[in-house]
Amino acid sequence: MTNFKQIAIDGPAGAGKSSVAKKLAEKLKYIYVDTGAMYRALTYKALKKGVSVTDTKKLIELAKTTLIDFQIDDSNVQRVICDGEDVTEAIRRPEVSDAVSVVAAIPEVRESLVIKQRALAKSNNIIMDGRDIGTIVLPDANFKFFLIASLEERAKRRLEEFKSKGYKVTLKGVIDDITKRDKLDSERETSPLRPAEDALIIDTSDLNITQVVNHILNVVNNGGS
Ligand code: DC
Repeated sequence: MTNFKQIAIDGPAGAGKSSVAKKLAEKLKYIYVDTGAMYRALTYKALKKGVSVTDTKKLIELAKTTLIDFQIDDSNVQRVICDGEDVTEAIRRPEVSDAVSVVAAIPEVRESLVIKQRALAKSNNIIMDGRDIGTIVLPDANFKFFLIASLEERAKRRLEEFKSKGYKVTLKGVIDDITKRDKLDSERETSPLRPAEDALIIDTSDLNITQVVNHILNVVNNGGS
């Protein structure tokens, strides 16, 4: 047990988890941990080193030996640092999105990353987002939220995000990617994507980020749902 506060935010790709969690962290002055970025950083490193995502043994070894860190830059933007390299932008590339769910399905890879995630939560008030935060990583979190949204809405949000970064992707391509990842993430044996029994489920399809943030702040400030 820890005296630090923990807020878990889970949900499928594009449900708004990271935008909401970042804003909440700012308002509550908590540390934000994007666990998806950790799986992405590892996947990026594997691709860069030419390690195949089917080479489970090498991936397990990489997960054990890779240092993944978060730093805040001068513009107050969180940077993801992997073995000293700033990979913040690189881990959002479509080829990483395409491969990450396979890497994240390996139980021993998850074990290594969960150890790192729990260590971060030991010494900070934390908002952590991912797929298994409320169920596995922080089962005693003070608050658990599970964000959902329609597939069309989630795909539109991701498409905007990719376009703003100059990536050439189509709505169909994004829908296919999200559908494939959600399937892999929810059907894997270890820590599948699912809401904790005590999570509050929020449908963000018709809500903007501010509305979701205010809703969560309301719950947090009133001590429960
Ligand atoms: O949130 P994201 O799209 O950046 O996550 C990338 C992938 O990592 C996602 O397809 C599932 C996986 N993931 C996971 O399995 N467990 C987590 N706690 C976070 C992400």
